[in-house]
Amino acid sequence: MNAPEKTVPLLKVDNLSAGYGEMPVLHGVQLEIYQAEMVALVGSNGAGKTTLLRALSGMLPSTGSIAMNGRELVGLTPDQIFGLGLVQVPEGRQLFDRMTVQDNLLMGSYRRQDNAAIARDLDKMYAIFPRMAERRRQLAGSMSGGEQQMCAIARALMAAPVLVMIDEMSLGLAPVVTQELMEVLAAIQRDGVTVLLVEQDVQLALSGADRAYVMETGRIVHSGPAKILINDPAVQQAYLGM
Ligand SMILES: Nc1ncnc2c1ncn2[C@@H]1O[C@H](COP(=O)(O)OP(=O)(O)OP(=O)(O)O)[C@@H](O)[C@H]1O
Ligand SMILES: [Mg+2]
Repeated sequence: MNAPEKTVPLLKVDNLSAGYGEMPVLHGVQLEIYQAEMVALVGSNGAGKTTLLRALSGMLPSTGSIAMNGRELVGLTPDQIFGLGLVQVPEGRQLFDRMTVQDNLLMGSYRRQDNAAIARDLDKMYAIFPRMAERRRQLAGSMSGGEQQMCAIARALMAAPVLVMIDEMSLGLAPVVTQELMEVLAAIQRDGVTVLLVEQDVQLALSGADRAYVMETGRIVHSGPAKILINDPAVQQAYLGM
């Protein structure tokens, strides 16, 4: 990674507030994500992590600023934001259960016109996730939780995202599957994709990410390199059970 990329954030969130109806949830959130980083967002139940991802995806009305490559996203529709390459893997995967794995993957690329590149990306997904290649004709809803999570991540990657945001990747999955998925994230990151990983498994998130933000009651309360946060006594006590 060269210096100029490091100094200009890919995503710059400033004073972002959002909520549900009259109820505010996010209070002046500020964060930055750089090209090809893996950033973790951790915090207790109800801290506002999913709400932040929804706000970034344009699914909740927000105030403040979300700039991606200098372009303001607040006020754009979810479809416009998706089209600019900010793609979310929602909690619970939300696959099309009655469609095959391959059709789910192709749904990820529905906004793209570059058919040759789509075909290449599909082959690439099957190389990254050999299990999806074996199961390309299987209905997505009939797969195991880990396989469904692979399918959901692959579907997001089929959108050719600039930034992929994954909500609760490890939820309900065996540690061996989670580890496999973390290795996939490291591989796609080496490929230049930027990752924002929301996790309740703080140990997992901090061991895989470059940097992390800790959220409490709608505010960012700690941030820094993941290797430093994992050794921070306040973080250890609150989130790592130490
Ligand atoms: N659709 C909704 N309508 C009203 N309030 C909501 C809605 N979704 C979430 N909230 C509230 O917003 C706050 C933040 O919730 P959010 O789901 O963002 O937390 P989270 O950090 O993702 O938690 P978890 O770790 O349990 O997934 C909570 O107080 C929650 O009750
Ligand atoms: Mg959540």
